[in-house]
Order: sequence, then structure tokens, then C-alpha cells
Amino acid sequence: MNAHSTRAVVLAAGRSTRFRTKKTKLLFSICGQTMILYPLRVLESLGIPTTLVLGYQGDTVKQELQKTDLKDLSFVFQKEQLGTGHAVACTQETWDKDHIMILYGDMPLLTKELVQQLISEHAARNATITFFTSYVIDPTGYGRIIENNGKFQIIEEKDCVAEQRYINRINAGIYLIKKSFLDEYITKLTPSPVTGEIYLPELIRLAGEANLLVHAISVPYDNVRGVNTLQELWSVEQIKRSEFIKHWMSRGVRFELAQSIHLDIDIEIGAGTFIGTGVHLLGKTRIGEDCFIGAFSIIENATIDNGTMIHSHSVIQQTHIGCHASIGPFARLRNNSRIGDGTEIGNFVEMKNSSIGNHSKTRHLSYISNAEIGSNVKLGPSLITCNFNGTQEHKTIIEDNVFIEGNNTLLAPLRIGKGAYVAAGSTISHDVPAGACTIARSQQIIQPNTDQATCKAMCCDAGQEDETTIDANAKKDTVQFTGATKTKDLQKAEF
Ligand code: UD1
Ligand code: CA
Repeated sequence: MNAHSTRAVVLAAGRSTRFRTKKTKLLFSICGQTMILYPLRVLESLGIPTTLVLGYQGDTVKQELQKTDLKDLSFVFQKEQLGTGHAVACTQETWDKDHIMILYGDMPLLTKELVQQLISEHAARNATITFFTSYVIDPTGYGRIIENNGKFQIIEEKDCVAEQRYINRINAGIYLIKKSFLDEYITKLTPSPVTGEIYLPELIRLAGEANLLVHAISVPYDNVRGVNTLQELWSVEQIKRSEFIKHWMSRGVRFELAQSIHLDIDIEIGAGTFIGTGVHLLGKTRIGEDCFIGAFSIIENATIDNGTMIHSHSVIQQTHIGCHASIGPFARLRNNSRIGDGTEIGNFVEMKNSSIGNHSKTRHLSYISNAEIGSNVKLGPSLITCNFNGTQEHKTIIEDNVFIEGNNTLLAPLRIGKGAYVAAGSTISHDVPAGACTIARSQQIIQPNTDQATCKAMCCDAGQEDETTIDANAKKDTVQFTGATKTKDLQKAEF
């Protein structure tokens, strides 16, 4: 026999009572992948067709799984959760192979190698049932194994008498069973007198009583931990995450404080890269070689090319960054932004749905949205693109070699042509031709020898004209607001 003569049945109908959350535990994420996907992916990698038993929140679990690319997966609903034995009985119609592998949906650390070992030892011994056991320090929650002359019996936690609770050999929760035996014996299971549940592991006792060969394989506990509580979810995620960290360390990635890193299953990191304390690398993030990711940065579904530095506390989502760029500290890049090679994005710069070419610079305090910025562009501090007029988004285009001084507001739609120069403090609302220089700010008026009380009174006078435009020419020799609308609220804010 081999994987091709095996069908798997994965049990996932339970109510997750010990989780004490409304959501089924099977949809909780472990390193960026839902718990139920872990065993399903292992089975898929071995080409084993799988029946998944759903019940509690079954429709939601099914919908989530249908969004994935999993193949060879069928669903059976267990209407009432009467126990693991009953759950397996519900799948009888799908038993189309000579051997049925039964496993629980809440054992995410199971590996492909162990499943292969289960199959090969089962085949080599021609066993009726082959199953995994493990030795643990604290067996709480697990079925305890009693072995007597090669015959096994599993006593569930709730059914244990006092001294059985101390048995530290446990039932791991994965079995390979001859279909012929399963067909005959699945109907022989009876409810536990203690809990009323129909227990699947009772099959092991029945096989022993019928003098059929049951083979137990002892495996490392850390590969078969079950997840019944949020504490167990936490332990399992720690183990999973440290597996990933060890994997990337072995490929030349330096982690500053490895125990503080969040790392998802689907990320990739190149050799020579440094990952600082508290960094989160999430989703399908790809980081090149010799990069530096500073402390507490969060990077999600982003691609960062070789030699780029992300300084601390930066948040980067759905963004592509070229090589040898410098980002942050405290930068936020998101929504399909693209950053060119050697470009510098400094502190408190937010960039949304925008692109910036090679060797450009925007180093401080800016909001850039829906913009297309060329190469060798220099953007001074406090640049704001106003791209949304309440109903429509507009584009700002800044061509190569443009220089924009500090504190500018760009009103989209707008194009600033190649090599143009924009003076500080401007509000730019009209296109600027290539090579032009532009300035758009109100003139500064200086009235010499004016004490502050007089100045304040004059400014307040000017503000009396609520909601009106004060024309500079009409108020010569007093404080003038060219083109400004003063309201009482504004006055309060200013003085
Ligand atoms: C089970 C085993 C126990 C073993 C442990 C390993 C039984 C009776 N006990 O206990 O011997 O040591 O796993 O982790 O099998 N489920 C259904 N339908 C049901 C009940 C449960 O589909 O009616 C599913 C659950 O969603 C879960 C799996 O079966 O994925 C196991 O159920 P759970 O309640 O977690 O069993 P344990 O108490 O952990
Ligand atoms: Ca369990």
C-alpha cells in the first residue's frame, strides 16, 4: 500500500468549547495560515484525497476553504456533534480506498514525514490499525494509553479513574485503519457511559479484542500537540514560528531578538538580511538579500529588493521597494505603492497608491496619494497631494528631475513637468510646464513699528468680516489677507 491506496478523513465538526470564543478554533490563524489548513496541506502534498467533516460553523469553514487552491477535498456535514466515532461514521460513503487515515483538524504541527512514516509502517506490518502515541509531562486533556500484552486501550480524560490520570503516554490523534475493519466495526461503537459521546479510539480496543494487529508508533509530542485552548494555540504558534526562524537562520538571515519576531508561513528572506527586534513579516512578503529591517517595522504582502534599509517603526503594506532604497523611520507605504532603486523615503511620510522612480527623495512629513513621481525628484518636507475632491480621485504627476521646496500643497489633477522648480509654501493648482519655476503664495506684508496690541486689534478687525473675502487693496495700511476668508473660529485658532 501507499498514499494512493489511502483516503484521509479529517474531523473538524466540534464546537471548540474549550476555546471560549464564538469563532471555531479551526479558523484561528497560526503564523498567517488558518489552523485547519495545516493538516489539509500535508495531505495534499502527499496526494491523499481528503474528506473533511464539518459541523459547528461548518458553512463558514467551507467558504474559507473554497477560497484556497486545495484540490481533492470533499465535505461531509455532521449535524449533531455526538463524538469523534460518530463523526467518522458520517463519512462512510466516501471510503473509496483500502485504507482510511483519520486525523483531527486541531493538530497543526503534524509533518509530511510523519504521515509518510505512518503509511510505511502500517504497510510493512500489514496492521489493521496503526496509530501515533506520545510521552508527555502533562497529559491533561488527552486520551491515556493502556497497553497490555500488545493490546491497547485508550481512556479519555473524562473517563479516567484517579490513577489513570497519571499515565503520561497519550493518544496523539491520527490513525491509519484498514477499510474492511472500519466498515465492520464503526457500527459497533457505543456511547461512553460517562459522557454519552461515541469515541473513535474505542476502535483500538475492539481491534485488540478481535486479536487483530494494532501497531503503535511513538512520535515527538511537539509534532502532534492538539489545540483545545487559546493557551495551546499560543504554544503551538511559538513552536511553528521558531521552526520558520530556524529555517531562515540556516539560510543566512540574522535575527536581532529572534523570540520577538512575528513571521508568517509564506514569507521569504534573502541571505545577509538583518531583522530587528519586534519586526512583523506578514502575508506573502519577500525580502531580498543584505537588507536591513529596523526594529518594530511591520511589513505585509510587500516586496523589498536587495540592499534596502527599512528603518525602525515603518509600516509597509502591498508595496514594492527597489534595491538600495532607504525607508523610514516611521514611514507608511501602502496600497500598491512602488518605490524605485536608491530612493529615500524619510520619517512621517505616508505614501498611498503612488509610485516614485529611482534616486528620488522625500525625507520628511508628507502625504503622497495617487501620484506618479519620476526619477531624481527632490520633494521638500510637508508636501501634501490633494487628490480627492469628495467624489473623485485625481492623479498628480511629477516628472523626472523636479525640485519641490518645503510646505507645498498640490491640487490634483496636476502635472509638474520635467525639471520644473516649485517654491516653498505654494499651493499649486495649475500644471507647471517642463523647466519652469513656479511660486503660488500670498505676499508677506510688513508694517514697521507696530506694537503687538495694535497688531492684534487690527487682525481682529479684519476678522470681523465673517465668511467674506478680505481684499488686500481695500484695506491698505492695515493688516491684509489676500484672498483669505476669516471666520471667528479661525481667529480663535490663530490668536
Ligand atoms: C481527542 C481524542 C483523544 C486524543 C486527542 C488528541 C477522542 C474521543 N479523543 O480528544 O484520545 O488524545 O484527541 O488530540 O477522539 N470532532 C468532530 N465531531 C465531534 C467531536 C469532535 O468532528 O462530534 C472533531 C473536533 O472538531 C476536533 C477533533 O474531532 O477537530 C477532536 O475532537 P476534540 O474534542 O478536540 O477531542 P479531544 O478531547 O482533544
Ligand atoms: Ca483536540
